[in-house]
Amino acid sequence: MNRDRREFLRLSLGTAAFAALPPFATAQDNGVIQLTAGPSEKTLYPEGAAPSSLWTYNSMSPGPEIRVRKGERVRVRLTNNLEEPTSVHWHGIRIDNAMDGVSGLTQAPVPPGESFDYDFVVPDSGTFWYHAHNRSWNQVARGLYGPLIVEEPEAGFDRDHDLTLVIDDWRLGNDGALDLASFGSLMDWSHGGRMGNWLTVNGESLPTYALKAGEAYRLRLICAANARVFELDPARFGAKVLAYDGQALPEPVSLDYSPFLLGPAQRVDLLVVPQEDFALEEISGDEPFAFVSFKVEQGGGEAVSVPRITANAIPEPDLSNAKSIRMEMTGGAMGDLAEITYKGRRLQGEDFQTTRQVWAFNGVANLADEPLFRARRGETVVIETANETAWVHAMHTHGHHFRVIERSGATADDGKPWRDTFLVGPQQTTKIAFVADNPGKWLFHCHMLEHAAAGMNTWFEVEE
Ligand code: C2O
Ligand code: CU
Repeated sequence: MNRDRREFLRLSLGTAAFAALPPFATAQDNGVIQLTAGPSEKTLYPEGAAPSSLWTYNSMSPGPEIRVRKGERVRVRLTNNLEEPTSVHWHGIRIDNAMDGVSGLTQAPVPPGESFDYDFVVPDSGTFWYHAHNRSWNQVARGLYGPLIVEEPEAGFDRDHDLTLVIDDWRLGNDGALDLASFGSLMDWSHGGRMGNWLTVNGESLPTYALKAGEAYRLRLICAANARVFELDPARFGAKVLAYDGQALPEPVSLDYSPFLLGPAQRVDLLVVPQEDFALEEISGDEPFAFVSFKVEQGGGEAVSVPRITANAIPEPDLSNAKSIRMEMTGGAMGDLAEITYKGRRLQGEDFQTTRQVWAFNGVANLADEPLFRARRGETVVIETANETAWVHAMHTHGHHFRVIERSGATADDGKPWRDTFLVGPQQTTKIAFVADNPGKWLFHCHMLEHAAAGMNTWFEVEE
């Protein structure tokens, strides 16, 4: 992993009021949820900071929490009030391809002033999210994302015991407002991506939530950062993991290693039965940075009963009969730029500045006409990603969850959970396996959004 030490802006705060959880999106107009993308202002840093010029859904960042039940139909009308085209991707939903929201692959981007209707069924319960998928490096970093929570069919944690925590990492200037000047910096694109210097949770600076001692809570962490890999240690407050990337584990597990990494687009659902005040801390810096606190009220707690969450049914890969793909990840700062082809042309010299393509998968930067591979429907696919760069990456498959079946140099055995986004460290090789059961054209890209824009973006096709 990239071990550079990170420091966040620091400030002293007075006693903050308790944060309230944001409201759910309610369906209006015959069950259609209205999502309007447009500019709005929001203060991201406490006490007297300048407001930031954001792009948001329904004037809030995160956008409204869309909460539905497993198997339900979701209808969303996206209206674009931005100055550039956009689309919405439903991250981690094993969705019908036409609704996947990828501008340039599954739909044309929606021009300013126009709208698009999304209509799909959610097959899995769990913690998911939605975000812009056109010029994502720009649109997501300005605030275009929100949580999408799919409830289990059976009764789970009730509203008071089920907290969604959308974590973002912002780059703020000295006035405390979003730094706009550095958007698109080639330095960021070729290094670790757009790294921020301030964290928010549900759009708030250093919020505090009130919990009751001895009761069981589900904390749904969603990493909406463009590039930051959070280093956390949930074991510090006795939390167990219920789910990764929306998919419940058979049993809640305790993490016996630290740091626990939460990369861009990844989610983790934690189970915590608090006894005393605690905080979620980012521990990569010289001292831990507590970015969300929990005030635990003593006494009167009900006896703990932990609702069970049932795992979704995902087809198990058949490793003895798999199609094997090897993908070498190259390029970037301190990497090899020697053989990168972009739009059929070998890049050299000045080309890297003009095309801004500096990363490649098997020597190809960004989407080529031909997919990385084609799979028959129902075929098991094993993808071996060899990270030959000096940077960590967060690889995401659209339309499918996979099991991470092998990781070179890994010390922790996390039991090969289902995921939709995996981290691969510098010089690390990782193998994932999944059944290609969802027909269509699907992206496979780095979710460090600057890396994706600068070349770490490919696609595969599952035949009808
Ligand atoms: Cu969060 Cu291409 O996706
Ligand atoms: Cu990357």
